[in-house]
Amino acid sequence: MGESSAAQAAPWETSGENVRYVPLDDLCHYRGRVAEDILSEDGALLLPRGSDIPAILESMPGITKTLRRWNREFIPVQVSSDITEKEFEAVLRAIEPKTRMLDPNLAMRAIHQVEEVYSRISEDGNSREGIETLAREADRLAREVVQTPQILLCLGKVKDSDEYTFIHSLNVALLSGYLASILHPGDEELVKTMTFGGLLHDLGKAKVPPEILNKPGRLTSEEFEVMKTHAIQGMVSAVASGVDDRRILSVVRNHHERWGEDGYPDGLKENRISLFARIAAVADVFDALTAKRVYKDPMRSREAVSMILESSGSSFDGAIVRALLVSVGLYPPGTVVELSDYSVGVVTGVRNKDLLRPQVFLSVDPRGRRPDTPTIIDLSLVGNIFIRRSLDDMGKGVVYRRDET
Ligand SMILES: [Fe+2]
Repeated sequence: MGESSAAQAAPWETSGENVRYVPLDDLCHYRGRVAEDILSEDGALLLPRGSDIPAILESMPGITKTLRRWNREFIPVQVSSDITEKEFEAVLRAIEPKTRMLDPNLAMRAIHQVEEVYSRISEDGNSREGIETLAREADRLAREVVQTPQILLCLGKVKDSDEYTFIHSLNVALLSGYLASILHPGDEELVKTMTFGGLLHDLGKAKVPPEILNKPGRLTSEEFEVMKTHAIQGMVSAVASGVDDRRILSVVRNHHERWGEDGYPDGLKENRISLFARIAAVADVFDALTAKRVYKDPMRSREAVSMILESSGSSFDGAIVRALLVSVGLYPPGTVVELSDYSVGVVTGVRNKDLLRPQVFLSVDPRGRRPDTPTIIDLSLVGNIFIRRSLDDMGKGVVYRRDET
């Protein structure tokens, strides 16, 4: 799986460090690749450099015996510090009992319900019952949002392009609700409003032709003009479906207004844009930047935060950007980091407001092995271990499957 051919850059060659001489008996605990050709005393190649250790042990069960016969007691291993997507998902599952994650059934129901509302609106122009049901789902989601500090790990990952709009709606709802809870702690009504507003924010896209909505590439300027109609169209459909809360309607209509720049549809600026629409704008852009689409790779959460930070005061309200920084942190949950002792883990969140020293779920110990027991280390409580570098960013971790077939 994902093996490099000779023509591709060999990942084990990219770093000169992390080579360990591993006793044969310990080899099964290591992930990584053989760091140099292993030859028999008469010069026959026993193990070529770059062989994947777990794959070799599985496909050649007798290999350790053979190596021992040739008096090879230690094997140089280029320890892997990468975490595959599969391993990341395993980490998420292991984290779950230790940290609070969003109830996946709740997330699934919200996604289904958004889809239901969209399909009704595209056929009939309104969805009164669908929206009432969605409002109840939003209340349940909002209760979860305030109790789930690892909200970023709960954001849905888009697998198929046609599901983007619905999963994006859930993500914007979760993030908007969470930003609201940071900006106004204890204001449950605001969290509820923002969660529901997030679910509905792109409602007008139900009226955008699918060939424009799901176009696998950048839109032409004419197509973009059509796409822009979703802001007003969304408000019209929401009103037709019985939504009369002005806060929600402002999210739907004004989430593309920009603090100090030209947005649409009304060209509002600064505080003339409602707080609700300003929160949704930040959540919307963060999720769009970090989403994987057919025409672009996902941006790392850290890069998305920096980009939004640069637009603080121009595109976005600085107070809300600060709330994003507090909730997402400098090492956002989901970032794979290498620590100063060469162990590797996944950031799960920040405690004690120290953005540089988050909590890390260890997945590879300093010797390159998987720890025997799941361990979360709080870097704000240990003085002598720090983050050396971030290796990757799995960002959004959860795949919500719409159809269990
Ligand atoms: Fe939008």
